Amino acid sequence: MRDTLTLRRPDDWHLHLRDGAMLRAVLPETTRHFARAIVMPNLVPPVVTGADAAAYRARIMAALPEGTDFTPLMTLYLTEETDPEDVAAAHASGLVTAVKLYPAGATTNSASGVRDFDRVRGVLEKMAEIGLPLCVHGEVTDPAVDIFDRESVFIDRVLDPVRRATPGLRVIMEHITTANGVEYVRAHDRDLGATITTHHLIINRNHILVGGIKPHYYCLPVAKREEHRLALRAAATSGDARFFLGTDSAPHIDPLKESACGCAGCFTATNTLSILAHVFEQEQALDHLEAFTSLNGPAFYRLPPNEARTTLSKGDAVSYPGKIDTDDGPVTVFDPGFALHWRVT
Ligand code: NCD
Ligand code: ZN
Repeated sequence: MRDTLTLRRPDDWHLHLRDGAMLRAVLPETTRHFARAIVMPNLVPPVVTGADAAAYRARIMAALPEGTDFTPLMTLYLTEETDPEDVAAAHASGLVTAVKLYPAGATTNSASGVRDFDRVRGVLEKMAEIGLPLCVHGEVTDPAVDIFDRESVFIDRVLDPVRRATPGLRVIMEHITTANGVEYVRAHDRDLGATITTHHLIINRNHILVGGIKPHYYCLPVAKREEHRLALRAAATSGDARFFLGTDSAPHIDPLKESACGCAGCFTATNTLSILAHVFEQEQALDHLEAFTSLNGPAFYRLPPNEARTTLSKGDAVSYPGKIDTDDGPVTVFDPGFALHWRVT
């Protein structure tokens, strides 16, 4: 039985670092294990322009622990007012790696997102022309659509029409949670990839709702039925280059999670690699872990994989903190519900 594993150093292709005290507290949890991360722009106010992204990048660099080798890959938050020329300039200078599309109201801090897709056509056409990828939060916000159907309806109503209308646009379906998402990606071999989170490989909707409500398992898109979790596990562990890791590690302080109207987000930066090794071993796919964490993402983003290596070894149960302290309050670390034996050495 295998008990060590050496990989190219992983990257996280979907991460929330926040700002201020939260940024300072959670950044080391990511930089300990990841060389690069696609940094989500849903701050308050959002990171909309190239100038916003430059300033946010500087704040991240200033918060990096001494001697840390980490590259934040910046994104712009797409609004109906986004200027295609500002986006193109931010891309040309190397400042931004992707643009993020939030349907207005779909998730945390998405109020400035897109309502009318016709109004962002010019930006999307410019992005297709210059090869700048679009990261998509794929859920409709129509109140008539059940929350568990919002991803599959989005694919039919929005994603497929937008892709057809914008040939050459490179799209990442972020944090897919359904077999429908997996199938849509599998059916298209050009210009389409998907990130999968760590927690969606572990929990289904029962984990959130059975035996008392578990706010720390609540995230968006919300975890679906077991059959969907199994489809995600099959996709992630398959080695298929279109699927790669985006943890969507999304810290909120405990009082905002454990509330009458709790925030969405699971904080998984701390133990993600141990959980993933566990999942890939269960699926007898440890040979595909490197593709998922370290190779497929760079290939999609047309970046070289990292030269540095990370070694995981299997042994006694790994101990990790149940909470991370921040100057704003505690953040609970995702509990997979079982002991972890793979540690990063
Ligand atoms: C994210 C957050 O808290 O910013 N929450 C989440 O549940 N994933 C937003 C997002 O990525 O949808
Ligand atoms: Zn996210």
